[in-house]
Amino acid sequence: MTDNKKQGLIGGILSLPNDNPKKTIFVAVVLCLVCSILVSTSAVILKPLQQANKAADIKKNILAVSGLLTDDADVNSLFEQFEVKLVDLETGDYSDVDPATYDQRKAAGDSERNVTLSSEQDIASIGRRAKLAKVYILKDGDEIKQAVLPIHGYGLWSTLYGFISFEADFNTIGGLQFYAHAETPGLGGEVDNPKWRNLWQGKKAFNDNGELKIKVIRGHVNFKMADAVHKVDGLSGATLTSTGVSNLVNYWLGDHGFGPYLKKMSAGTEKE
Ligand SMILES: Cc1cc2nc3c(=O)[nH]c(=O)nc-3n(C[C@H](O)[C@H](O)[C@H](O)COP(=O)(O)O)c2cc1C
Repeated sequence: MTDNKKQGLIGGILSLPNDNPKKTIFVAVVLCLVCSILVSTSAVILKPLQQANKAADIKKNILAVSGLLTDDADVNSLFEQFEVKLVDLETGDYSDVDPATYDQRKAAGDSERNVTLSSEQDIASIGRRAKLAKVYILKDGDEIKQAVLPIHGYGLWSTLYGFISFEADFNTIGGLQFYAHAETPGLGGEVDNPKWRNLWQGKKAFNDNGELKIKVIRGHVNFKMADAVHKVDGLSGATLTSTGVSNLVNYWLGDHGFGPYLKKMSAGTEKE
């Protein structure tokens, strides 16, 4: 009886002329409902695929920053060469927490697992960071060949997320690569330009006294200067993004970032 009444109501609305406001509103509401059901269903169904693609993209970037990515690379099997570990950034020691189940971005938002940075410490403008950070170690037998560290910080318009790789001395930079940012294409977005990224290769983060010296400068590096090995050309027309990158690299390699870990690794005193 009620169904008949409902059908009668729907039928009644549909039998109205097309320019009747009641019919227009009814059709619009039904269309919105159907579309929202379709969008939310596909979002739920595609979520695992999106997560898998995201994880594959991270692996691809780690391989790229360490120079292992080739056009025909099987990303998953190449990535298996890396040992993934968690570092307690305060002490620089490895942690026992399982890296496979650890989400560093989630940990950075969890008051039990993060630290809030003072304005003096926060040169990367990130506000807080996770206590534990992932590192990706590439070995040949027992010998460390490379280490890849995740870094992030604010540029001009956005937080840039990426990786920096180190050679076995934990001082010589192998590469720098960002996998997410929203800087302006052609300006700050030139952080993705392979020519600029290549400028980082071979630069030394620390001087002989162990002081952190790496810096993105305004303009071009003068190779006649002794400290050229610590300096990278700024992006022209994008000084603000360049300064952001310089600051975020300095934060993550500094005392409040991976500094304690890098010191232990370069001195060979880190416990496995
Ligand atoms: C629409 C627009 C987008 C910009 N995007 C960036 C950017 O992504 N990164 C950046 O450093 N500067 C960007 N700038 C330029 C900055 O405002 C600033 O002028 C520049 O960083 C100064 O660098 P320079 O001293 O090398 O010219 C943008 C400017 C405009 C008008």
